[in-house]
Amino acid sequence: MNKFANLEINGKNLKIPLIEGSENEIALDISKLRSETGYITIDKGFKNTGSTTSNITYLDGEKGILRHRGYSIEELASKSTFTEVCYLLIYGELPSKEQLDYFENNIRVHTLVHEDFKIILEGYPSKAHPMGILSSLITSLTAFYPESLDPSRSKSLVDLSIVRILGKFPTFAAWSYKKRNGHPIIYPDNGLDYCSNFLKMMFKLPSEDYEINPVITDALNKLLILHADHEQNCSTSTVRIVGSSLSSIYASVSAGINALWGPLHGGANQAVIEMLEQISSDNNDINKYIKKAKDKNDPFRLMGFGHRVYKNFDPRAKIIKVAADNVMNKLGIDDPILDLAKKLEEIALKDQYFIDKKLYPNVDFYSGIIYRAIGFPPEMFTVMFAFGRLPGWIAQWKEMRENKEPLGRPRQIYTGSKSRKYIDLEKR
Ligand code: SDX
Repeated sequence: MNKFANLEINGKNLKIPLIEGSENEIALDISKLRSETGYITIDKGFKNTGSTTSNITYLDGEKGILRHRGYSIEELASKSTFTEVCYLLIYGELPSKEQLDYFENNIRVHTLVHEDFKIILEGYPSKAHPMGILSSLITSLTAFYPESLDPSRSKSLVDLSIVRILGKFPTFAAWSYKKRNGHPIIYPDNGLDYCSNFLKMMFKLPSEDYEINPVITDALNKLLILHADHEQNCSTSTVRIVGSSLSSIYASVSAGINALWGPLHGGANQAVIEMLEQISSDNNDINKYIKKAKDKNDPFRLMGFGHRVYKNFDPRAKIIKVAADNVMNKLGIDDPILDLAKKLEEIALKDQYFIDKKLYPNVDFYSGIIYRAIGFPPEMFTVMFAFGRLPGWIAQWKEMRENKEPLGRPRQIYTGSKSRKYIDLEKR
């Protein structure tokens, strides 16, 4: 491979160094472009621009490949557990039994939160969206653990902050749901595994016992694994850029939660179910909504379809679609929305518009159907995405800090007014 690309600007020849990754991806290193030419590049939405190098996740959008630390998402989703994938993403290797037990026990002893968090929770109106509650509770961890504010301190302190956020995130998520329902909160039960503990805090009612259903626990493990990391997506890039200012892991993850909330990103799983319910209430008129999605003058988009990177299929969507069938069958649920989603996918994938624009179902298209079958309301779907993405955000923040990456501060091209004199108010 050549080590340089040649760039000619104003008669001046520049050798641009090339960077090659372990999967033969190649990038132009333009870190000296401005100092040597006075020029910058611009790429709205960063569709062609890499922000970093990373050892955590590899995607091939054309081949539909997703690997975490070299392990395929298909193997991890079928053979691993969410806590094991958390360890793999954050520490780089599959843990031994002892390492996993130690990691899980460390998380377990941090699931309880300070009683004063209940006061913060009580301050919210009952219909507050759980994503807004969650991002503020996560930021509030800095108030209870001020030592976490300096991320460059000891490795042991970073590890402690990591198990604290992994332990407390599910408690906050479940409590934000209970708040919305007006139900009393349920405290963590550290006799349970990570996912079962969360499900019990979510769905146990004070007057009843909560019976762990392995079908649901397995489905949740798989869904969380499928959302665990996805290289430099919008929310992860947000976590990295906030962390690049030396903000704490809590403040950086909270920013990621807010970026994920948008309907073009993680908020799509809630928007998919709302879209399917709208189509269902409109006599299942799929063709009407396919037409709307193709109409440039109509803001309607087929939610759960399309992806910035995947241009053939999202491997996670394929796994989730199969899992949706399995979970529904095992739970004995016949949800017409699943049949509607499959019919919509079938029609869209045969439509030239979607074929030409390489639009396929993404991770959000079927995930909400499983969350709904488990009992989550739509406003909790993006919280579930955030729960799954938490280890990815942590791993990427940790990698960025360990690599001592510089403060993220993009350039711009100014297109506003040129220099002009101030005009006094009475003369305007
Ligand atoms: C996630 O980055 C990640 O990895 C994200 C994620 C992760 O794990 O972190 O995978 C999770 O966010 C998945 C995406 C969830 N969002 C949605 O399902 C919302 C619907 N999809 C889109 O809005 C869209 O497809 C995006 C935002 C996902 C990607 O859009 P891009 O790459 O910015 O491309 P674009 O918006 O410029 O679209 C290209 C063309 C446009 O038409 P033209 O202007 O070229 O004529 O395709 C059209 C778009 O109008 N298009 C769609 C469409 N998605 C794109 N048309 C109808 N329905 C859609 N869903």
